[in-house]
Amino acid sequence: MVKLNDNYLKLPGSYLFSEIAKRVSAFTEANPDKKVIKLGIGDVTLPLTKSVIEAMHKAVDEMGAAATFRGYGPEQGYEFLRKAIAENDYCARGADIAPDEIFVSDGAKSDTGNIGDIFSVDNKVAVCDPVYPVYVDTNAMVGRAGDFNAETGMWNNLIYMPCLEENGFLPELPKERADIIYLCFPNNPSGVAMKRDELKKWVDYANENKSIILYDGAYEAYISEEDVPHTIYEIEGAKTCAIEFKSFSKNAGFTGTRCGYTVIPKELKVNGVEVRSLWNRRHTTKFNGTPYVTQRAAEAVYSPEGKEEVKGLIKYYMENAKIISDGLKKAGFTVYGGVNSPYIWLKVPQGMTSWEFFDYLLEKVNVVGTPGSGFGPSGEGYFRLTAFGSRDNTLEAIDRIVKTFEQ
Ligand code: MLT
Repeated sequence: MVKLNDNYLKLPGSYLFSEIAKRVSAFTEANPDKKVIKLGIGDVTLPLTKSVIEAMHKAVDEMGAAATFRGYGPEQGYEFLRKAIAENDYCARGADIAPDEIFVSDGAKSDTGNIGDIFSVDNKVAVCDPVYPVYVDTNAMVGRAGDFNAETGMWNNLIYMPCLEENGFLPELPKERADIIYLCFPNNPSGVAMKRDELKKWVDYANENKSIILYDGAYEAYISEEDVPHTIYEIEGAKTCAIEFKSFSKNAGFTGTRCGYTVIPKELKVNGVEVRSLWNRRHTTKFNGTPYVTQRAAEAVYSPEGKEEVKGLIKYYMENAKIISDGLKKAGFTVYGGVNSPYIWLKVPQGMTSWEFFDYLLEKVNVVGTPGSGFGPSGEGYFRLTAFGSRDNTLEAIDRIVKTFEQ
């Protein structure tokens, strides 16, 4: 008889955002007259920008003419995009990354979920708590996370690094040695950023312990403060211990278009083996490249016009973040994030769990957010709202919340 991967059977329920979607659709089916405003999953609402659309149209025309048609492209991404990424996201920031250290993909979710393929299941993995659930679930799927304890909401083979109000929602260096450390800054879900000197401690830890940091920088475009690094490679020593993941989803609105990339410097080696060569082997075996049209769209993000347009998108969402933060404070909530990130992390009213607050907000206020406990046990008592909604919906949602909770 066929044997299944039993690790999947250990996974609790459904993926966080699928569970939320399920609850929301049950509510809307039962209450078709209610206007539900979704500020749950971090999905953008503004359309693609002019430069991006023009680049896509042009690329589509190329695909429709025999002389310019393209079939399979390089699995790692076209040189034009890898060069644009290297120049703009790295060299311009003083981080010397070469195009052949960049692997273009269909997004950071896939890459952060797949990167575990190149590491042994015996590695000890450390995650922030709360955390983007993809890191935990994908380690659980291969058995690296061990067994799930429904009472604690924890996997017995993971190292959890609590990110709480008392430590400013920043993880502390693990007491137990970690081989692989997932960091995401600006953080999803708490929205807090990590400053340069703080990140340096992690890079030093990783180099001293021969660990690897998996650094998710998907929200980098939202950084507004000077002392927050835009890439881990701004930190001395990072090239020998870090892999970085980036995405065009949150800066340029590519959540539906799908494009991201992973950086693995040549200096990153384990026992003399370039980690990059293993990822290259995996990528070329399991992935046939991001569509040409999409890569041309991503390239346009780096044009002078594209850069200005991205600034406009970020400004719009950060204004939403301020509307949310200010409104929640007015309604009496304690609020974090929203300064270097499009996420607002609020404390739920006393006496309620995160899921109880989720249900209350859905049923009474018709607003959807994400319960903190869905990101891990230390997220209990918190709730995430995204600034990616439309302006009108954001204003209306906050107005409803203020009216409901203001004393
Ligand atoms: C989130 O809401 O946490 C993100 O949108 C999820 C993602 O980027 O996959």
